[in-house]
Amino acid sequence: MILITGGTGFIGSHTAVVLQQAGYDVLVIDNLHNSEREVISAIGQITGREPAFIEGDIRDVSLLAGLFKTHHIQAVMHFAGLKAVGESTQIPLTYYDNNIQGSITLLQAMRNAGVRTFVFSSSATVYGDPQRLPLTEDHPRSATNPYGYTKLVIEDILESLYRSEPGWKIARLRYFNPVGAHPSGLIGESPQGIPNNLMPFIAQVATGQRKQLNIFGNDYDTPDGTGVRDYIHVMDLAEGHKTALEYCNAQAQTLLTTNLGTGQGYSVLEMIQAYEQACGKPIAYQVAERRPGDIAACWADTTYAKQTLGWKADLGLKEMCQDGWRWASRDNTGQQKRGQDSFNTD
Ligand SMILES: NC(=O)c1ccc[n+]([C@@H]2O[C@H](COP(=O)([O-])OP(=O)(O)OC[C@H]3O[C@@H](n4cnc5c(N)ncnc54)[C@H](O)[C@@H]3O)[C@@H](O)[C@H]2O)c1
Repeated sequence: MILITGGTGFIGSHTAVVLQQAGYDVLVIDNLHNSEREVISAIGQITGREPAFIEGDIRDVSLLAGLFKTHHIQAVMHFAGLKAVGESTQIPLTYYDNNIQGSITLLQAMRNAGVRTFVFSSSATVYGDPQRLPLTEDHPRSATNPYGYTKLVIEDILESLYRSEPGWKIARLRYFNPVGAHPSGLIGESPQGIPNNLMPFIAQVATGQRKQLNIFGNDYDTPDGTGVRDYIHVMDLAEGHKTALEYCNAQAQTLLTTNLGTGQGYSVLEMIQAYEQACGKPIAYQVAERRPGDIAACWADTTYAKQTLGWKADLGLKEMCQDGWRWASRDNTGQQKRGQDSFNTD
């Protein structure tokens, strides 16, 4: 059985689908801070069986000990975490406690139970402001906000753990910009309040929830002046996790660190155009000031993931927008009741 922390969240839920469809048994733990219990039944609808679900917090030592005792867990995929960059600058202690302490508690429970296979959601944010593109895994790391710092620290903790005793099989997966949704439209991303990530914001303009999109800066040193990012379909990302798990399982021990991206950057204007085609409506936008901390462009070098995992992203911008729109345009009013604040998410 695979334990998925944060498994009712955006990326965890899609990974649960892929794992169940590949024949794995899945146990989800989530405190529902940023997701809904209904996601479990949606996963059941897609795959034909609901994963086991525990509502709980990864910082709960006795809950975790019990969980490892009562279930035959072979590996852990660790998605649970807070991810809003702006919020992390306002409540850093909460971020350090939830993300760093949460990871330590989880790893301690694994160690006590003799479970040593761990797949971690890291982020391209660990590269800071890119010194060169595309980003290779050996690019220097840095953090400009507490959220990013939690990823750096957890990556380092995993390295220390790997070096401290034999047998750990650890994958540190650095995601670029996950977008889209499961093609069924039954699960997807449910941003809190005003989304500052591009795709959910475009979606809310398309559904009429927001009047227009702000493009933060059109004078960057990019082909059309707007920011360029490496968007990756969440289903490709989920497949990447399955491949990373299988890679770990095949090793006696490993510390794998790899990008998961497409290697292709798209500008904000290109994203808007592709989304307009998917939803069949114009997306109103205005150009606003650059946001502090935003970088001009960022995309992955995907060579290492191809070499080690034999994995590459297959889905393009069209699928990202079509699947994202199918999810966004369904009646998901229940998804919008959470959260009031507007924060930059990773
Ligand atoms: N979405 C992105 O753009 C992106 C990019 C890079 C990395 N990541 C990382 O990937 C992971 C998953 O991201 P996501 O987009 O699916 O986020 P998400 O918020 O949709 O999912 C995270 C889930 O973890 C749960 N959670 C948070 N703290 C918890 C705790 N202490 N105990 C139990 N459950 C807890 C939340 O309720 C939520 O369901 C995060 O670690 C995030 O930092 C995300």
